[in-house]
Amino acid sequence: MIDGKTRLCGLIGNPVEHTMSPVIHNTLAEKCGHNLVYVPFLVEEERLGEAVKGAWALNVLGMNVTVPYKSAVMESLAEVDELAAHIGAVNTLVRTQGGYKGYNTDMTGLYRAMRSEGIRIEDEEMILLGAGGAARAVAYLCGAQKAGKVFMLNRTLDKAQQVAKEVNAAFGREVIVPMLLRDYRELPDRKFLVIQGTSVGLAPKEDDVVIEDAAFYRKVHTGYDLIYKPFTTRFMKLVREAGGEAYNGLKMLLYQGVIAYELWNHVEITEEEASFVYEKMRQNGRFV
Ligand code: ATR
Repeated sequence: MIDGKTRLCGLIGNPVEHTMSPVIHNTLAEKCGHNLVYVPFLVEEERLGEAVKGAWALNVLGMNVTVPYKSAVMESLAEVDELAAHIGAVNTLVRTQGGYKGYNTDMTGLYRAMRSEGIRIEDEEMILLGAGGAARAVAYLCGAQKAGKVFMLNRTLDKAQQVAKEVNAAFGREVIVPMLLRDYRELPDRKFLVIQGTSVGLAPKEDDVVIEDAAFYRKVHTGYDLIYKPFTTRFMKLVREAGGEAYNGLKMLLYQGVIAYELWNHVEITEEEASFVYEKMRQNGRFV
């Protein structure tokens, strides 16, 4: 029941119609018995600062921020968490005394999703495909979680070199090794944890994949695609055909929401509760 004590959370973005976040947060609120409602807010670019200020004035408990505002929103915040500041992107605003504090639960969410599947980053030899916004954030996560060597393969070498320079400086070691995507044959002869962080293969271009060569996939013990539409990407199929384990990005989406919810409500969501939400997401997105 919505009443005088109902708290509001929401999503700032443009567009917002296809978001799955209301399913995540309204399901969690119901499951946990919290009097909280979560709604999407379509915000125009020139109104972003006003939207954050207005949310604050309206006593809004917390916000998510999505494309295209994850970086731009940072200037409207009272404080930014250290990992989010490194990454340069915020997807969660938490109400504090002086304004909102920004977090990046996309990355802590990816980490928790991987842990829930039993995948470790610490000391792992990894390949990271891409050097755009998403891959750059994963590179910071790898540094923060003490990955072994991470070969960052990108079509444009400059971008991978730039990310490597920043991340290696931030963590004081050579964690990211930049490489040109087409030079993948030069990778060491061993098995890797591979994170697919490019936009290639995203619906509706479901047949696309960054690397086709079966020889590459024989070097993959686990493949993690950040994409979840389609539910099984071409990358995932190629990993499985070569005998590896493959995962999509839907659990990353789940856990970025779970962690945001925990930050807003000062609670811990159990694995059982998270699984319940995951099933709702699958039904809602018609992912089977
Ligand atoms: P996102 O926010 O999803 O990371 P982005 O910042 O635009 O989006 O990054 C897209 C990533 O996909 C980049 O690594 C990009 O490679 P370039 O840096 O060379 O552009 C990669 N990408 C996009 N289309 C690609 C293609 N056809 N082949 C290989 N890589 C591609």
